[in-house]
Amino acid sequence: MAEPLLINQRVRARADTLGAALDAHMLASFAPDARKELRRFSAGEAAELLGISTSFLRKLHFDGKAPEVEMTGGGRRQYAAADLMELRQILDAGKAGAYLPGRREGEKLQVLSFLNFKGGSGKTTSTIHTAQRLALKGYRVLCVDVDPQASLTVLFGYRPEYDFLEQGTLYDAIRYDDPLPLSAVIQTTFFPGIDLAPAGLMLQEFEHETPRALLDNVQPPFYARMAAALSEVEDQYDVVLFDCPPQLGYLTMAALCASTSVMITIVPNMLDVASMAQFLQMSADLLDVVAEAGAPMEFDFMRFLINRYEPNDGPQQQVVSFLRTLFADEVMVAPMLKSTAISDAGLTQQTIYEVERAQFNRQTYDRALESLNAVNDEIEQLLHHAWRR
Ligand SMILES: Nc1ncnc2c1ncn2[C@@H]1O[C@H](COP(=O)(O)OP(=O)(O)O)[C@@H](O)[C@H]1O
Ligand SMILES: [Mg+2]
Repeated sequence: MAEPLLINQRVRARADTLGAALDAHMLASFAPDARKELRRFSAGEAAELLGISTSFLRKLHFDGKAPEVEMTGGGRRQYAAADLMELRQILDAGKAGAYLPGRREGEKLQVLSFLNFKGGSGKTTSTIHTAQRLALKGYRVLCVDVDPQASLTVLFGYRPEYDFLEQGTLYDAIRYDDPLPLSAVIQTTFFPGIDLAPAGLMLQEFEHETPRALLDNVQPPFYARMAAALSEVEDQYDVVLFDCPPQLGYLTMAALCASTSVMITIVPNMLDVASMAQFLQMSADLLDVVAEAGAPMEFDFMRFLINRYEPNDGPQQQVVSFLRTLFADEVMVAPMLKSTAISDAGLTQQTIYEVERAQFNRQTYDRALESLNAVNDEIEQLLHHAWRR
């Protein structure tokens, strides 16, 4: 006789199998306790990031003005992120910020939320690629992982279920009972220029505790707690990126209320667009409620970011033009292409900016890189616009 399917036991068994397999996968991807390390960049990549020509970069070395950098076996220069920063300082001398683009006196911290309640629309993928591109361009970036599922935290090489099981997540800085300063949970990452406020399952407590805190009138209220936490460290960053969970809970509302702008990621198919319509409606209702309660609503920009774009897919094209007709300038000019280079890199918890071009089909890699650079450079322009440059 077949064994009865006891769903509680079956689910636990599958959870155990999968958990063990994932641990093994993580251990194979990077050794236990070994931190991720960022690769070196070629002279071509370095010049592109610095906004100079490769010949000018060569000349800096020839004239002895550039720092000594590592050489490959083939005698090519290789630049670490720290070398790029040093070159920025050198290039910027007397240039008043042309090569050090971070915010200046009077320019306010930019806080951008990546948002949508559809999982898989690319919130985490866009958050980390934006963070890395901005950091490589010389901005001081803080990533805040607002999703209890902690995908962003994993991409930075942490194992939330070990590293931050009980403490050390964003939760500690926004909880109602004796919160810590945000600086106490912020981690420096393997990626120079990026710090991380990590997530973990603990964060979910915020959803559970908020109704009680509202009844007890605990101050500040949920929508102001993320902003309050951020204010402690705001001098240390140019840009803060929130990776929101795929739901419209208190965490998402708190992130939104701490933001100065919002990027809604959308996969261009009709089901996702229909789901986004609901999402926008519900967001508007909730925002009205917190606005009524006194949360600030003045934003610098809101954009829709098309993700998983396939230029040769007819129906997708139609959805994209539908969105562009409806939302005009609010749709980012640059879409994020659907690319196996992005998903393949994701398999080893990496991004396009981390992997080596040689690991991929060159054309596939270049197309993905070009698309992500275009998206992130457009975001950079939006930030500059908000700074009134
Ligand atoms: N443009 C893209 N091309 C290919 N794969 C993508 C792309 N954007 C995201 N993905 C993959 O889709 C999955 C879900 O993306 P993710 O950013 O985690 O979505 P979300 O954070 O909105 O849930 C990830 O495995 C990611 O690697
Ligand atoms: Mg995510």
